[in-house]
Amino acid sequence: MAEFKREHWGSKIGFILAAAGSAIGLGNIWKFPYIAGENGGAAFIFVYLICIALIGLPVLMGEILLGRTSQKNPVGAFRALTKSKFWPLVGFLGVIAGFTILSFYSVVAGWATGYITEAVMNNFSLYNETASSGEHFNSLVSNPYWIIGYDLLFMAVSMLIVYAGINKGIERGSKILMPMLFVLLLISMMRGLTLDGAQEGIDFLLKPDWSRITGNSVLIALGHAFFTLSLGMGAMMTYGSYMSEKDNIPNAALQIVFLDTLIAMMAGVAIFTSVFATGLDPAGGPGLIFQTLPVVFSKMPGGYIFAIFFFLLLTIAALTSAISLLEVVVSYFVDEKGYARHKAVLIFGGLAFAVSVPSALSFNYMADIKIAGLTFFDLMDFLASNIFLPLGGLLMSIFIAWRWGLNNAVSAIKKGAESLFNKHPYLINLWIFFLKYLSPILIFLVLLHSAGLLKK
Ligand code: TRP
Repeated sequence: MAEFKREHWGSKIGFILAAAGSAIGLGNIWKFPYIAGENGGAAFIFVYLICIALIGLPVLMGEILLGRTSQKNPVGAFRALTKSKFWPLVGFLGVIAGFTILSFYSVVAGWATGYITEAVMNNFSLYNETASSGEHFNSLVSNPYWIIGYDLLFMAVSMLIVYAGINKGIERGSKILMPMLFVLLLISMMRGLTLDGAQEGIDFLLKPDWSRITGNSVLIALGHAFFTLSLGMGAMMTYGSYMSEKDNIPNAALQIVFLDTLIAMMAGVAIFTSVFATGLDPAGGPGLIFQTLPVVFSKMPGGYIFAIFFFLLLTIAALTSAISLLEVVVSYFVDEKGYARHKAVLIFGGLAFAVSVPSALSFNYMADIKIAGLTFFDLMDFLASNIFLPLGGLLMSIFIAWRWGLNNAVSAIKKGAESLFNKHPYLINLWIFFLKYLSPILIFLVLLHSAGLLKK
């Protein structure tokens, strides 16, 4: 075996920041605001918060627990906990999902990276209408050199951090990058709140219009709860495997959920106050950040510097998530196949980049090639977010509650959290109820919904 002793997080806060870094990403700053915008704002956010609390938190605790108990990557974790041949396949599905997500994630993260350059060069000042800023965006992404170049740059930086290992790479990187992200976002939010007309954006976020809630939007909210918390593919399991039994899992999970939600809300405030103050459309879709925000920046006082801050923070958020995706794949090949970490990073980071090339080309050369009606990029996003992650989450909940056995799960989750559960014993029952019944049923509905989408 190439690795003799498993690395562990150097500190509690190191784990929290790394796991929060995984959770907080493009999902919070790019995806959450645009899906909230498209689904009517406040009412959608309310449903999303319920999904996070009722499904996200219990499943997150379960996933971290599987990693900590087994001290293994997702495949090894199931191997260590059961003799069955089926369950390790669930872990393997996670490794595949890691590649799938990375392949489109690094493309969007590459746009964020490229937009830092655009902001520095003051290119946004030319655009004070969404139409022309949309054209600018389209001309950038239709250039294969631009899109693949920044994709590669982003992937190379992610690989560098994973290459350096858990303590020196992921933990140290997260300790520097996460506070930076928080400060930059705080500044962007302050700027948004102090614009004339910010109130309309706040109303959009706080005053629910219940008529906008449909079955569809509930399922979108639930699917996003999985994506934003990095659930369902073993990322949190892998990070949990670097934890020790002294660590308090419920506490850690609560902090991760809190930070992830806080950042999504702050991003919502920063973006919607700006969008409304400049009279733009909150339902701008996936282009909201790349097409609408440059217009906002060109119109707002101090926009030049805020544009740089904003795209820098977006890139940082994406970076700490991408490293968690890569780490899942790397830990599998290190633990199970005996690869040296360095070698695994080079090979599989390189491979992940190779898979991202067709995603990048979906915006230019391959734009007309459709599989099941979707471009390669959209297909990867769909497969991961709508099928692999919910399926992984469903199977993990079933595994913990029905297969591994509740006695094992209960005694494992108590380790490190004795005082919490001694004081509030009902919390254990609540957790079990959610994992055993509520999350399998609700996630199953999400999967049915996804299957229906595919037919259309
Ligand atoms: N949670 C990240 C985001 O919101 C994306 C992400 C990172 C992820 N690792 C993951 C999603 C693992 C699912 C599974 O941007």
